[in-house]
Amino acid sequence: MLIDLSERSNQPELMDDFREGLQRLRIVFDDINRVNTILGGNAITVNAVAKLIAENPQPGYTIVDMGCGDGNMLREVAHLCRKQHIEVRLIGIDLNADALQLAEEASHGYPEIEYQHRDILALQQSDLNCDIIINTLTMHHFVNKDLLHFLEKFNELARIGVIINDLHRSRWAYYLFKLFSLIFIKTETAKIDGLISISKGFIKSDLIRYSKSLPNSRHDIQWKWAFRYVWIMEPNRLT
Ligand SMILES: C[S@@+](CC[C@H](N)C(=O)[O-])C[C@H]1O[C@@H](n2cnc3c(N)ncnc32)[C@H](O)[C@@H]1O
Repeated sequence: MLIDLSERSNQPELMDDFREGLQRLRIVFDDINRVNTILGGNAITVNAVAKLIAENPQPGYTIVDMGCGDGNMLREVAHLCRKQHIEVRLIGIDLNADALQLAEEASHGYPEIEYQHRDILALQQSDLNCDIIINTLTMHHFVNKDLLHFLEKFNELARIGVIINDLHRSRWAYYLFKLFSLIFIKTETAKIDGLISISKGFIKSDLIRYSKSLPNSRHDIQWKWAFRYVWIMEPNRLT
């Protein structure tokens, strides 16, 4: 029988309570980063950052990655900004102290990046004024009841815009990922979590429904290969 993905799953991911130590976590993040590189997931966020920067020229930018994991995305954004000679301060926020330790280790040589150990849901507006918020593969970790709170908070914090890059909840994605993971993924954790993540992902009507609860922002929601949605929110306050 085919999997039923008509509703978002509430199943927790193994990574939400990962207790196998730093070395194993590093290998799991290597798997996640390999998938994102091969399937172009990271490029979606980097391109969206480049677009918001091009449309909103200013001397420098503060960009916050909510749920930054091992900081891979921030390092890619750092490369973009270095190439384009853009002054940037990059902040990674994550609840997982081990992930942040890996992020710190991998970010030697990136003085523009700093990390903060915090819960996204507990952030206050006064804590963190920034220009752009990026959020890659983190929104699906949140249950529906917390999502609106999460999105409203991001819209308050980011002066220029918020970029969400997350998974399309689709049977095609689910079964193609099963095949893909046989070849490209080494750890059982990443194989299992990949499938759970897809079942916790979104269909376009979910995102449109959430966007209607944020009427003070302009919304651009696009499907991207491979089974991602990129959702760019731009608060109307700048216009
Ligand atoms: C699937 S990982 C994505 C990591 C990274 N953004 C990427 O694209 O590879 C999701 C991350 O969100 C973090 N996370 C989940 N809930 C969080 C919360 N309430 N506050 C901060 N980080 C959270 C997890 O610790 C994890 O590192």
